[in-house]
Amino acid sequence: MAEHHSALGLATALRPVQPVTLVRPHAARRAATFFTEKFPGRCMYAVKANPSPDLLQILWESGVTHYDVASIGEVRLVSRTLPDATLCFMHPVKAEEAIEEAYFTHGVRTFSLDTIEELEKIVRATRGAEDLTLCVRLRVSSDLSKLSLAAKFGAEPGDTKELLFAARQAADALGICFHVGSQAMSPDAYANAMEIVRAAIVEASVTVDVIDVGGGFPSTYPGMEPPPLERYFDTIHRAFESLPISYSAELWAEPGRALCAEYSSLIVRVEKRRGTELYINDGAYGALFDAAHIGWRFPVKRLREVPTASPYEEFSFYGPTCDDIDHMAGPFLLPADIQTGDYIEIGMLGAYGAALRTAFNGFGADETHSVDDEPMDSLYLGDAREAEPSRVVSMDEHRRKAGQ
Ligand SMILES: Cc1ncc(COP(=O)(O)O)c(C=O)c1O
Repeated sequence: MAEHHSALGLATALRPVQPVTLVRPHAARRAATFFTEKFPGRCMYAVKANPSPDLLQILWESGVTHYDVASIGEVRLVSRTLPDATLCFMHPVKAEEAIEEAYFTHGVRTFSLDTIEELEKIVRATRGAEDLTLCVRLRVSSDLSKLSLAAKFGAEPGDTKELLFAARQAADALGICFHVGSQAMSPDAYANAMEIVRAAIVEASVTVDVIDVGGGFPSTYPGMEPPPLERYFDTIHRAFESLPISYSAELWAEPGRALCAEYSSLIVRVEKRRGTELYINDGAYGALFDAAHIGWRFPVKRLREVPTASPYEEFSFYGPTCDDIDHMAGPFLLPADIQTGDYIEIGMLGAYGAALRTAFNGFGADETHSVDDEPMDSLYLGDAREAEPSRVVSMDEHRRKAGQ
């Protein structure tokens, strides 16, 4: 992988014809160190957010020893890449063959479940193993998060007593887990979920060894600026301390997005301009899946060596494929004089964006370069972030400047 100093330097020197993925190992290292040092429990990385082996290696070297895997493909990938890592199979619906291979071939001992049927599958596939950590997933609200995870998985209050009781019989260690939805915008999301955990423990009267608060820790995007992560950690710590669990119970979390959003960005080229619509060379089938399908807004920046004094204007993007749905409404704020041939950096794509890329229609970024400039925004720069004015123009700032 080639190394460059900055996105601008790379665009100027290479003038790439294809989109280029930029990775920032220092940003992933900073996020991992922050979590491993400040989260008041065990931090395991949710591999689905970005399964890049380079990233896995960086996280491992930064102290992340546990990995939340959701498929046998992810189990194999992490086993191969980090043979000493501890894997936890946290998808509540698994193929029995996947459980069997995970347990017997890859040494996985932690599994999640949200039904008696899944518990029976795990017991059968592991041939009644006595060294299992079984985490019962509870359904909790996603109301304070940008992306719901409340519909598909999780035991309902009426079912948890029987399930916790049965899992307790089969488990060496019993856990309770949940997911508050991705990009949780308030620490209260976790406090509210912990109340559901409390009620379930009291009702079932079982000894619980692990509380796993799942993912959902936010990153920062235009129009989605969350409170500092320390506030989430404090809220979780307080709620954990007040639960009726044993003194030696462990607290776990499964951050995906928050560990890798800042890791990568994308350089795209404008191939055509039609009014305020820019036709760029990556899109809905590339790293911009979320921008197209759920209207997620990412920070953007034109990469020109000599910037013009042009005001900012709102643009939408079309991706390169032939489909109308290859469209990203944004709005994306860019200089009004942007034109064909200009390069744009789209930031904060390390979580899910990079993982969701396809080669549909023959398009897509397959070149990756490492850079050591800062990501377009960060939750981890603290005072340094305030000292250096953000290069990301927020909608509010834009409207103020435009006198709207
Ligand atoms: C079980 C589980 N854990 C963790 C995550 C990671 O979530 P996030 O990226 O919001 O931190 C997910 C995401 O879907 C998940 O399903």
